[in-house]
Amino acid sequence: MNPVRVGICGLGTVGGGTFDVLTRNADEIARRAGRPIVIEQVGARRDNPDCDTSGVKVTRDIFDVARNPDIDVVVELIGGYDVARELVMTAIENGKHVVTANKALIAVHGNEIFRAAHAKGVIVAFEAAVAGGIPVIKSLREGLGGNRIQWLAGIINGTGNYILTHMRDEGRTFDDVLAEAQALGYAEADPTFDVEGIDAAHKLTILASIAFGLPLQFEHAYTEGIARITAEDVEQADNLGYTIKHLGITRRSDNGVELRVHPTLIPKERLLANVHGVKNAISVMGDAVGPTLYYGAGAGAEPTASAVVADLLDVARDITTAHHYRVPYLAFSGVNDEANALPILPMEEIVTAYYLRLLAVDRPGVLARVATILSEQGISIEAIIQKEATEGELVPIILMTHRTREQHMNEAIRQLESLADIAGPVTRIRVESLDEQE
Ligand code: HSE
Repeated sequence: MNPVRVGICGLGTVGGGTFDVLTRNADEIARRAGRPIVIEQVGARRDNPDCDTSGVKVTRDIFDVARNPDIDVVVELIGGYDVARELVMTAIENGKHVVTANKALIAVHGNEIFRAAHAKGVIVAFEAAVAGGIPVIKSLREGLGGNRIQWLAGIINGTGNYILTHMRDEGRTFDDVLAEAQALGYAEADPTFDVEGIDAAHKLTILASIAFGLPLQFEHAYTEGIARITAEDVEQADNLGYTIKHLGITRRSDNGVELRVHPTLIPKERLLANVHGVKNAISVMGDAVGPTLYYGAGAGAEPTASAVVADLLDVARDITTAHHYRVPYLAFSGVNDEANALPILPMEEIVTAYYLRLLAVDRPGVLARVATILSEQGISIEAIIQKEATEGELVPIILMTHRTREQHMNEAIRQLESLADIAGPVTRIRVESLDEQE
């Protein structure tokens, strides 16, 4: 049978890994697809010294690949927003199927890209865009198709998890560990995307759309990074039985959908709390299946290539069998129909528990004033620890609260910070029990 002819655009970490996996496993991949999948052309601004492209046409102009009549599938691995969007739209206009690992592209331009692909009758596959090698999109879109998804929570940025893990275990500095993650090829070209939660928000946006059947709405995602987490917070969380993880959380309620990325205290016994280093994991709660967990390498050349090649196999099978009904890009049909519209909730409306750390003047009545402010906002305290004075007359107070609405906590923090007895800003980290009842 005729081979499926692939054009790879971008020969960096993931492009090189994809080239190697497709070449090395060519026989097995052909048996799975029922026909060979061959690399017809590579478009890359520069060579990858780890990648032997001899015998393959190489062009410096990636748009040559998108227009090449001998190519069936364009694999977009250049990353970024604008050029990638133009490349993918050009490929679609030219009737090519597209496989991409680009979460920023899908999260921000996905609605437009899917419309164009649908009109042209081509596939856009993006398993590698979320959690590298973990087949979480396929699991959520197909394997859990019988469920009403209630929530999902995940460690979906390997670099951030790598940094938090090594800072905690080895007492190393943030910059030192970040440099190592960059050298290992985990970090984004702009590592602020990793540490500020933007990369995770891209991925969470995609997961939420597939979980709940919504258009992609990255602009409504709340993001908070890990740069403000201190060694003291890590230690206090540990004393209280929690681990701090940078989580992406999306949850459906009657009013809408929560969509948020922020550092989060989770109970140490949760499996997610024990996901270390560059590994990713996503916990998904379905009404029928209950809790499920997807774990594996969330970044890196060959793990991400694993997902790219799986998408190529799907495309190859689809072309071969000429399906007239395909799995919808975002799992549900009619994601843009008003009847299906669920708003993304503003952050003030989310409901969660909180860890607070404040520095207070050590004199009678301070704790009572803190407790009064919280109680007037209807916030119930679960635990309170007052530490010995460390900074002159100031004592750290650690509070854990029960679940409350974010707007009440915002108001309580505003009032706490205006007390003469409280020094500096209040540290707030959200707390999720991730148990089956929520
Ligand atoms: N920079 C990303 C991460 C790469 O660290 O998870 C994979 O998307």
